[in-house]
Amino acid sequence: MDPLAPEVVVPLLRGRFGRPYLYTAECASTQQLLQDSALPEGAVAVTEYQTAGRGRNGRSWVAPPGTALLCSVLLRPPTDRPAPELSLVAGLAVAEALDEVTGARAQVKWPNDVLVAGRKVCGILAELRGHVVVGIGVNVCQTASQLPQDASTPAGSLLTVSGKAPERPALLASVLDRLERRYDEWRVGSLAALHAEIAARDGLRGRVVTSGERELVARGILPDGRLEVVASDGEVFALGSGEVLLDRR
Ligand code: BTN
Repeated sequence: MDPLAPEVVVPLLRGRFGRPYLYTAECASTQQLLQDSALPEGAVAVTEYQTAGRGRNGRSWVAPPGTALLCSVLLRPPTDRPAPELSLVAGLAVAEALDEVTGARAQVKWPNDVLVAGRKVCGILAELRGHVVVGIGVNVCQTASQLPQDASTPAGSLLTVSGKAPERPALLASVLDRLERRYDEWRVGSLAALHAEIAARDGLRGRVVTSGERELVARGILPDGRLEVVASDGEVFALGSGEVLLDRR
């Protein structure tokens, strides 16, 4: 039986996320499987291998078969809520799941990534399709040579950062449980309700980052989800979206 087959994963589910559970051994992208979907909130698409995995900003997302956790979750937030905040909500949830399952202390890299030991082990892609499809890719047991070598944030897998890889079904069940709980808090409150937990895991705070041409120091994620930065001339301002590159020095 495939490791992430419904017979294995569904008995581990703790809440409403993951129902229905759509599993296929191979697909172009799990994002695509939920793109035009009439399925209910919490529906999840999972695969072992993507032939056209999507990253942010038109990039691809590549992982050898069976080495990563590749899933997409369908959400239907109220239309007046800022959907981009869901990247941070999902980042917090994945970080908590990684702590639970691996004992790591995972950090959120604003706005869309999760770091362990300074390495990007997870990327998150939130796509608005009327509904929102939140795609989560966790590098689990790739060896160093199987990871992208040219990533702007150095990539790691749970195996390369800790020497051991967790069971993917348990990790998936934990991710879905944590995401459901954090999403529900966000839905009835706001991102500010999660700010303390997000700020405590802020992997950029105090680090030198680059945004466009500018070198900045990150001061921290604000309650509204923006990243506060200070420039070399002392100007303090907040970035609302986009990417920042972590200085490798
Ligand atoms: C990024 O860091 O650029 C985001 C990567 C998101 C990858 C996941 S893997 C599961 C889902 N399906 C995709 O095609 N992409 C997301």
